[in-house]
Amino acid sequence: MSATARKSAPLPDDIRAMKGGTPIVSLTAYTTPMAQMMDRHCDFVLVGDSVGMVLHGLPSTLGVTMDMMIMHGRAVARGLSKAMMVIDMPFGSYEEGPEQAFRNAARLMAETRAGAVKLEGGVSMSDTIAFLVARGIPVMAHVGLTPQSINTLGGYKVQGRGEAASNLIADAKAVASAGAFAIVLEKVPESLANDITQSIRIPTIGIGASAGCDGQILVVDDMLGLFTAFKAKFVKRFAELGADGEAAIAAYAEDVRARRFPGPEHVFGDEAPEAQT
Ligand code: KIV
Repeated sequence: MSATARKSAPLPDDIRAMKGGTPIVSLTAYTTPMAQMMDRHCDFVLVGDSVGMVLHGLPSTLGVTMDMMIMHGRAVARGLSKAMMVIDMPFGSYEEGPEQAFRNAARLMAETRAGAVKLEGGVSMSDTIAFLVARGIPVMAHVGLTPQSINTLGGYKVQGRGEAASNLIADAKAVASAGAFAIVLEKVPESLANDITQSIRIPTIGIGASAGCDGQILVVDDMLGLFTAFKAKFVKRFAELGADGEAAIAAYAEDVRARRFPGPEHVFGDEAPEAQT
């Protein structure tokens, strides 16, 4: 069923059931108005820890905290009624072990009304994923380029080329067996993304992966042209809101300095009645 036709948010099992069908559509969101804009177009919306870079000006996602995720998660939840909300577990909130992961995942879900959490890692996270799923927390996995590990991956490189491909396939299989309902594949070769998609039973959500994945995700500020510090090859800009916004601000500044704004239609007269807003 298309996101537009649906009346209520899908559950993780509905997303899982979309494997091999019409591609799953998703974007990140961090605020209520953005969530409202995408609600009827997306199957799920991710409150990504990319919020740290695109809204807070951090150099990476490593400085994102639980409190930041909860604040943005609450804002996004207020804007959604049709799309499912998934929320990222920030760096340091789950890697110590299953109990720590459960404590923080439960807090994220209870305090934001997210339908699932996402965490980064493959084989090394599979026990944690199984622990969470067994205790009622749906998990979306994320393998390939995992931005919380840039310091051990050697930066934002393509992952899984050559001999590393078999490790990535093992990662994807491990998280699927552990009970993840879907898996993000970030910045991996197209042929590997296709192989993984064919070899596991849960949907793959590509970003810098392949049109053959079961769905796609982009960071909303990237695809709208709002985040312009750099542009990854896998980003397609569907709008140039950053440039348009700056041009509008320049026009406003000129109008204020020339006393063209406010105009007669923007100011109030002495006599009532008149519009007061
Ligand atoms: O944080 C994020 O925005 C993400 C997506 C890019 C998948 O993890």
